[in-house]
Amino acid sequence: MKKFIELIEDTMKEAFVKAGYEEKFAKVTLSNRPDLCEYQCNGAMALAKAHKKAPIAIANEIIEIVKDEKMFDKIEAVMPGFININIDSEFLAEYINDIYKDEKLGCSVNEPKTIVIDYGGANVAKPLHVGHLRSAVIGESIKRMLKFLGNNVIGDVHLGDWGLQMGLIITELKERQPDLVYFDESYEGEYPSEAPFTISELEEIYPCASGKSKQDESFKEKAHEATLKLQQGYPPYRALWKHILNVSIKDLKMNYDNLNVSFDLWKGESDADPYIPDMIKDLKNQGLLYESQGAMVVDVVEETDTKEIPPCIVQKSNGAALYATSDLATLVQREQDFNPDMVVYLTDKRQEMHFTQVFRVAKKANIVKDNTELKFISFGTMNGKDGKPFKTRDGGVMRLEHLIKDISDAVYEKIMENRSVSEEEARETSKVVGLAALKYGDLSNQASKDYVFDIDRFSSFEGNTGPYILYTIVRIKSILNKYLEENKLTDLSVLPASNASEKELMLVLSKFNDVIENAVNELAPHKVCAYIYEISNAFNKFYHETKILSCEDEDKKRSYINLISLAKNALEICIDLLGFAAPDRM
Ligand code: ARG
Repeated sequence: MKKFIELIEDTMKEAFVKAGYEEKFAKVTLSNRPDLCEYQCNGAMALAKAHKKAPIAIANEIIEIVKDEKMFDKIEAVMPGFININIDSEFLAEYINDIYKDEKLGCSVNEPKTIVIDYGGANVAKPLHVGHLRSAVIGESIKRMLKFLGNNVIGDVHLGDWGLQMGLIITELKERQPDLVYFDESYEGEYPSEAPFTISELEEIYPCASGKSKQDESFKEKAHEATLKLQQGYPPYRALWKHILNVSIKDLKMNYDNLNVSFDLWKGESDADPYIPDMIKDLKNQGLLYESQGAMVVDVVEETDTKEIPPCIVQKSNGAALYATSDLATLVQREQDFNPDMVVYLTDKRQEMHFTQVFRVAKKANIVKDNTELKFISFGTMNGKDGKPFKTRDGGVMRLEHLIKDISDAVYEKIMENRSVSEEEARETSKVVGLAALKYGDLSNQASKDYVFDIDRFSSFEGNTGPYILYTIVRIKSILNKYLEENKLTDLSVLPASNASEKELMLVLSKFNDVIENAVNELAPHKVCAYIYEISNAFNKFYHETKILSCEDEDKKRSYINLISLAKNALEICIDLLGFAAPDRM
């Protein structure tokens, strides 16, 4: 569907051409002085010099042409040569009715692209902590946004399931339970189907083993040996590794479920392993691989570089693969499986160099097609109030579950202050609202920036917060329910606005497709957040200034109900894109 602003601009373009000017000068923008007008066009200013005319004269020529257009309530030239535009309420209401009828509120579905999105990135057998939170939260939102516009999107958690941590766990397990069949070299039977550890044991084993390896050289060596054996396919270690994977993934799934994050694929670094030998061979055949200080590397320098980009190390001197090797092999696999138009990665900004190197090798070696877009979305750190990376009170790494619990507890207190629902309902609701507080607190910042995790601010029901947005939705739902208790809503039309705050709400809603398409193209959830804050403010202003349910004019009342129902639809679509939902009451 044409964007509202495009309709206005089209009319202006025609007028500019009619007056003998190029249409590119007819650009229309939202007014930066909403107290004076709703839209503006500054083209006359830019034209003045070339045409040796006063800008106001040009603006007046344009006004002469368009002044009777029915889309304008008022259009005027003001000194020194701006064109100020106010929209006709009937024209606006027509557009509002058009988007109200449309399932995607006027968003156009693009030619669908196949997009792999690599996010989450948890490491198996290590607890999920806040460091992985942002990747999951931002990635989930970007996935939903891309899907909303009709793309074929494949979300892959890309687990860290193949590295030294596996060798460490196996080695520690061998010390603790040497009698397990996995450590009996003469054992030839089937391996047990039950894992020899629980998730809590597993989570305790890893830090213990990791600590040991830092102090005990021989332990470390054993861990490296075990890792190598596992990677070479030694059956008992493969069997143990499968157990580690299963137990850990079950726990990860639960955590991601609690975050309302879900993946289409549960692949990991290990899945790329079989692709490595051929890929290395191919790099060699293309003459891209050379030896440097014992390792095999690929040069990735480009002429336009302004800083040093070191060669990408693809193989260590002992033949072992590295993080970059695994990511390159994963691209080989993704090309084969999905032939994607775009692959998006989400990690914190410290991995920027890694992805620059990997992307360059992938292009240079034709691992991906020339026109495959490889995108790295980096995010900043979640800091505590002290401005340092967020930690628990005793300085440890905060586990995600605890973080979610803390924020739900804060919301619970606030809900209980109102005392309008039972304790049990407050508990349930605080989970839903807490998640919104957490996600909105994160997503409302531009991803690349650091932000301060502030539980009091995030859980507040006022201001630019998740709970405020939900509170607004709940308020609308409650009005709609009350109306529907006594009326049937058969006429789904909105009448032209009769007061300023009603028109303002319509103007905000008329931008839906413009804002959302733009946010999706820029992969920028923070723009969706800014927009729902704007809708919520516009709705609340309208709500405070208007008698909705007690309006005596039934037609008007019904129109209000349709308008706020559209506002609810817009808000609900947006929060779904952000990855959270609204309760019925709060
Ligand atoms: N497991 C990695 C980490 O914790 C993140 C993986 C990101 N994805 C990727 N394809 N490299 O740092």
